[in-house]
Amino acid sequence: MKRAVYPGSFDPVTYGHIDIIRRAAAMFDEVTIAILDNRAKTPLFSVDERVKMLRKVSEDIPNVRVDSFSGLLIDYAATIDVHVAVRGLRAVTDFEYELQIAQTNRLISGGNLDTIFLTTSLEYAYLNSSAVREIASFGGDISKCVPPFVERMVHEKFQAVEARERK
Ligand code: PNS
Repeated sequence: MKRAVYPGSFDPVTYGHIDIIRRAAAMFDEVTIAILDNRAKTPLFSVDERVKMLRKVSEDIPNVRVDSFSGLLIDYAATIDVHVAVRGLRAVTDFEYELQIAQTNRLISGGNLDTIFLTTSLEYAYLNSSAVREIASFGGDISKCVPPFVERMVHEKFQAVEARERK
């Protein structure tokens, strides 16, 4: 059985991520979406919220499962016995960072974790989660970037943040 892990922050999940999930699921027997629980950063969405989000966007793809991890990706991949990580490459600007992570992971895992790259479909090449957060924080339109239910969740989140700041 060919299995892969698709790690990321997914804060929030975008159409670009969904494109990679679908294409990876067509190539592997099982894909685990692994959401990074990074305690050093304050994400917009909690890990539980992101798990729910990712479960919903992948509910129609039977060979996709959703999980979260903290610490090193190579350690998490070893616990689920997966040896291939999938990452999306949007543009050449992603390349150096991704190459560095992929090579480091291969080195420190003793060759146990390889990374394959899927080039993002052109219509999603410009998308990234931090731009989505920034646009939404100023009340901008993110409907071309994320599915409608994620759009609602993002706007609700910023409304809650604003309400808290007003108090
Ligand atoms: O969606 P992102 O934020 O670009 O994803 C980055 C991610 C989660 C793939 C990467 O930061 C990661 O794997 N972090 C876990 C810690 C780790 O293994 N670091 C070693 C890589 S050099």
